[in-house]
Amino acid sequence: MNTPLLEAKGLKVAYPVKGFRKPPVEIVHGVDFTIRRGETLGIVGESGSGKTTIGRAILGLAPISGGTLTYDGHDLASMNAQQRRKLSREIQVVFQDPYSSLNPSLTIGATLAEPLIVQGWDKAKATRRVLDLLDRVGLPKNAAQRLPREFSGGQRQRVAIARALAPGPRLIVCDEPVSALDLSTQATVMDLFIEIQRETGVAYLFVSHDLAVVRHISHRVGVVYAGDIVEQGRTGDVTVTPQHPYTQRLLLAAPIADPGLQAQRRTERRELRAAQEHLSATEASSASRPDAA
Ligand SMILES: Nc1ncnc2c1ncn2[C@@H]1O[C@H](COP(=O)(O)OP(=O)(O)OP(=O)(O)O)[C@@H](O)[C@H]1O
Ligand SMILES: [Mg+2]
Repeated sequence: MNTPLLEAKGLKVAYPVKGFRKPPVEIVHGVDFTIRRGETLGIVGESGSGKTTIGRAILGLAPISGGTLTYDGHDLASMNAQQRRKLSREIQVVFQDPYSSLNPSLTIGATLAEPLIVQGWDKAKATRRVLDLLDRVGLPKNAAQRLPREFSGGQRQRVAIARALAPGPRLIVCDEPVSALDLSTQATVMDLFIEIQRETGVAYLFVSHDLAVVRHISHRVGVVYAGDIVEQGRTGDVTVTPQHPYTQRLLLAAPIADPGLQAQRRTERRELRAAQEHLSATEASSASRPDAA
């Protein structure tokens, strides 16, 4: 099918503000994006730009105040709680900090089996599925009997991925899922995401502040700046030859290992800054000139 799995058109998100007759505060100002089946859309942007808010809108956790958000042809904004619950199997989530999202007193086996049993699976079938899932994410079988605190950060993130995969989702919102991990663990966990996608055809909305991470994992990338998507397109285009000055700044700020390249980047960064300063100075002076048409 060619219709996208998820489509946002003019999507706005606004949070209510406490206080009498205070208008809601709009965080996402009308963004368009699509996620096709089996595809990864990376969302990159600085802290506070609205990346998590976009993910939360998809999960039904942030109030949609305008535009449309369509999942597999169904409008998410107009769904009632019961319809939304049915969808919760299909749209799963992996957060940055797996420790706070795992129940510390439940074994990993119980954590993974719980949603299956709620779905009506019998215990033996659920146990088999849990062992399959552990194997799938590269954890030993005996992990089922252990508690979250007995695992490293990278292993806990594998547990979180297994939990998201358990109900057989078609879309996973991944909110900074590798940001708390060291570089080599980041790489292996990202490869796990990619492998799982190849095998299951699941789609990802993959949020990160790190352009290098987003570049590694995404087919397409959207760049968020102050609640707007300022640039989007194929990963190669957006992350190699970005058009928007903000993306150019993000790209130049991304760390790279090669010292020669790093020095070159520093020079490029300086030149870009100088050019932008020059541009805004020219704009300011022409704006103040009464004869400028
Ligand atoms: N529940 C809420 N009520 C009101 N404002 C909120 C709420 N949640 C987030 N915001 C505001 O929305 C803006 C965007 O936040 P968001 O968490 O989406 O940013 P982000 O891009 O994910 O940042 P980070 O990289 O730090 O995670 C911020 O200014 C934040 O203060
Ligand atoms: Mg966030």
